[in-house]
Parts: sequence; structure tokens; C-alpha cells
Amino acid sequence: MNRIFNFGAGPAMLPLPVLEKAKEEFLDWKGLGMSVIEVSHRSAEFEALLTETDNLLRELAGLPENFDILYVHGSAQMQFAAIPLNLMPLKPAHKAAFIESGHWTVLARKEAARYGKAVTVASSEASNFNHIPDYDVSTLDADTSYVHITSNNTLFGTRWNEFPDTGDIPLVADMTSELMSRVIDYNKFGLVFAGLQKNLGPSGMAAVLIRKDLIGHAMPQTPNLLNYDTYAKNHSMPNTINTFAVYMMNLVLHWLKDQGGVPAMEKINAHKAKIIYDAIDNSTGFYRGAAQKDFRSQMNITFTLANSELDKKFLDEAQGHGLYALKGHRVVGGMRASIYNAMPVAGCQTLADFMADFARRNG
Ligand SMILES: Cc1ncc(COP(=O)(O)O)c(C=O)c1O
Repeated sequence: MNRIFNFGAGPAMLPLPVLEKAKEEFLDWKGLGMSVIEVSHRSAEFEALLTETDNLLRELAGLPENFDILYVHGSAQMQFAAIPLNLMPLKPAHKAAFIESGHWTVLARKEAARYGKAVTVASSEASNFNHIPDYDVSTLDADTSYVHITSNNTLFGTRWNEFPDTGDIPLVADMTSELMSRVIDYNKFGLVFAGLQKNLGPSGMAAVLIRKDLIGHAMPQTPNLLNYDTYAKNHSMPNTINTFAVYMMNLVLHWLKDQGGVPAMEKINAHKAKIIYDAIDNSTGFYRGAAQKDFRSQMNITFTLANSELDKKFLDEAQGHGLYALKGHRVVGGMRASIYNAMPVAGCQTLADFMADFARRNG
């Protein structure tokens, strides 16, 4: 077996023990003589798996009792429509505020504009989103239904360190590229969502953590399968749920618990990120971090080579060392190392060693 270190932004690396367990029990899940993807979602076995997954997620996240967990089709971008459809009616003005720290917040704002007023209250676009923009939330209009942020900016490699206190106005956060990677006080939020394909499992489904009082306000034209009330009333199974995604997420959560849970994972992630940021900062200018230091992401590390003509050579040689998918997004250029929970410390160390060696040979 020749497993590589996959630094791709998502779908991303999953923990090896999770993949092995899925392989081991694929043909005969729970002694039923069939795989988990052949079992009815209405069976007692699957219902039990779903409930256990809820409980694990709640326990590991430290999710307060007044939150529901919903599993919604269509992954993160479908939420860009679901959120305004469900939350804009919280206030008569049907207005949402966006603090734009990157590509995904911009896309979310454009989608929300189809359903009501979507207002950019702050943006760091002028500096190519290399930091989180400053914004005084006390200046928000009282008729704002919710505030939308992206907690970790996958393309640009920045993150919110502290979250704003928006008071009575619900704070909505896209945590697709960092859910379960650091300790979060969910009491600060009205809704948190994430596509699973980075820290939690396969693509195609979103986990939505929503304060219960925010359910049940959807616009009348909201498609049934985008209405949070439909999911809340039917244990996320108004129709056939993505059973395989739930199963994989369950295995990933068990693995996370075995690692010591989110607080332990946060420490490991900080250590992993430091290994690579040190390789950038100690390279005497050969590599340059793309994000401002105060806002550096622990999940997506973006950097450029001072001499961009070496980019292709860097990527080719890295691949030869088993370091895969390091090419940065075209809007930033250079490189991006996505190091979600499943990336081992050894992967980060191998990359840092390769970077130092490459700089020595090409500097
Ligand atoms: C922060 C963030 N939001 C949303 C998305 C879109 O996710 P999906 O393709 O699952 O809709 C991504 C994908 O990378 C992301 O990183």
C-alpha cells in the first residue's frame, strides 16, 4: 500500500483507521449480511447509527441543548440558499449582513440576494482577502435578520480568531473547512454549518447546527427539502438520507474521540500548522505566507515562492516525495497545504523538510 500525504482542500484525507474499518465491515455491516449502503434508512440499525452520530457530535462539539443537529443534502453551497430562505423572515426587512473575508462569503451573499436584501457590511477584498476585515457589530441595523461569516477561509488561508458578539442578531458561520478542528463556544452562534468533505467524511452533505428557536420561520416558497423544519421534524430523514455519509461521519467522530476529542485535536492542529509556518518564516524570503500573520488559518496554509518560475518544479518534486495536491487556488497562486484533522504530524514534517531542502537547492 502506497498512501500519499494528500494536502488537497477537499475532498480531503480521512484517517487511515476510519478507511480500514469501513473496508473491513463493508460487505457485512453489523452481521446483517449486507453493506451499510444497502440497508434501509428506516431500519432499526440505521436509526441507531444516526442517533449515535448525533450524540457523538453533540458531545464532542460541546453543543448546547438548545441546538438541533440537521443533516442536509447538497453540502455547503446549498446552505447559501437554505439560510436566507429560512432565516431572512426573522425580521420584516428580510435583510442579511455579510462580513466578507473570502470567496465563499461572497458567493453566499450573491445567493442570498436572490431572496432578500444581502448587504456587505465589511470586506477585505481590496487586499485580496489576506485578513479578516475589522467591523464594529454594534453598528449593525437592528432590522438585520442575521449576520453571515466564514470562520475559516479555505482559499486564502485566514481564520477568525475571536468571534463577534452580535447580541440578539443571530450569527451564522460557514465552518466547512474547520468544524471539529478547534474548540468553539456555540452559544455565540445562531447557526453553524459545514460540508462534510474536509474534517468529517465524504462530500455531498452538510451538518447544520442550529438554535432551535430559529427553526420554523421559512419563507412560504421554500422547497420542502431546504426547510429546516422539515429536517427537524423528521430526524433529518424526510426522504432517503445519504446513509454512507452518516456512516463515515460516525467512524470519523469515533476516531476523533479516540484522539482525545476536539481540545486535543486543536493542540495537535496548532503544532502541525506551526511546523509549516516555521518552514515559511525561516526560509529568509524564499517562501512568503499569503495571509497576514495575525489571521493565519490552522487548516489551510497558503504561501507563494518568491520566484514563481519554480512553482512547477516545486509541485513535481513534492509529488515525488508523496506530497500531493499542494497547488494553491488560482486567486492566490502559489501553494496551499490543507492540513485537516486527518493529516498526521508526519505529513507536515515531511512537507517542512522538503520545503527547506528545496529552498537550499534552488535559493
Ligand atoms: C468555507 C467553504 N464554504 C463552502 C464550500 C463549498 O462546499 P461544497 O462544495 O460542499 O458546496 C467550501 C468548499 O471548499 C468551503 O471551503
